[in-house]
Amino acid sequence: MYGLAARCARKKAGRRGSLVTGIGEAWRLARQRIDRLDARLLVEYVASCSHADLLAHPTRSLSALQARRLDALVRRRASGEPLAYLLGCAGFYGREFTVTADVLVPRPETELLVELALERLRHLDEPLVADLGTGSGVLAVSLKCLCPRASVVAVDLSPTALAVARQNASLHAATVRFVEGDWYGPLAGDRFDLIVANPPYVAADDAHLESGGLPFEPRMALTDGVAGGDGLGCMRVIVGGSVRHLLPGGWLLIEHGHEQAVAVRNLLRQAGLSGMATWADLSGSERVSGACLAGCRD
Ligand SMILES: C[S@@+](CC[C@H](N)C(=O)[O-])C[C@H]1O[C@@H](n2cnc3c(N)ncnc32)[C@H](O)[C@@H]1O
Repeated sequence: MYGLAARCARKKAGRRGSLVTGIGEAWRLARQRIDRLDARLLVEYVASCSHADLLAHPTRSLSALQARRLDALVRRRASGEPLAYLLGCAGFYGREFTVTADVLVPRPETELLVELALERLRHLDEPLVADLGTGSGVLAVSLKCLCPRASVVAVDLSPTALAVARQNASLHAATVRFVEGDWYGPLAGDRFDLIVANPPYVAADDAHLESGGLPFEPRMALTDGVAGGDGLGCMRVIVGGSVRHLLPGGWLLIEHGHEQAVAVRNLLRQAGLSGMATWADLSGSERVSGACLAGCRD
């Protein structure tokens, strides 16, 4: 035993019972090794306490077992593993979602896709919506919760990701039809008012795949290694197939890398869609592009 657990155990030696340290001290030790906020959230998670508890009762005890669990989590965080995998959840568009290593950690920039989607659903009575590459289900579930009159179908090739997405739909009482398959494969003959997709768009040889938290996330959620490897392989399939799956006036909205907007707009144009546009996320990066099938409503 070493690190935080060892220091806590040393404290234990001089005390009675199994109390080893206070949660405030555990936080102080943890933040010497990882980001302050991450340290705080891990202490609160392990000690099952709130932020207010941590501030108001810093001497509240942490057991030896809890100290060991915290030590292991801090170590994993220090090695780059995303906080969401350690906590088992992540926030997205005001809701909390279950997250496991089988799914991409939902990114804040993807919330832009929800906003753009809602703008297009607002005037439709019973819109048909497809979410391609649903992962944890954040897009499909958020859209169903925010636009209950929509019928939402969500596709993913990964059965383990779909299991997480189903869990999230049930958590938020969202009726979403989940189907396993390759992009439009399970949607033969179906057409939609709106297709949203956040496909894998990192090129297979991009060095970022080996940095930060990315090595911990599913490869198939990040890169299009199988579909071409230049980062646009999945876009080509999704954009190319959209004309056979959009209703007249229906929109395709697709998230992409910040340097892929021009290429994606070209794909949208080549596919025969109109009203091409690109939107920037809160950091100012071009993040989502979209277009509609002739008969555009707006
Ligand atoms: C970037 S993640 C997006 C997850 C989620 N929509 C989000 O925004 O957080 C891409 C998702 O596409 C799925 N995927 C990869 N290849 C696929 C394919 N050929 N057909 C369907 N889904 C695929 C992955 O399993 C992954 O869940």
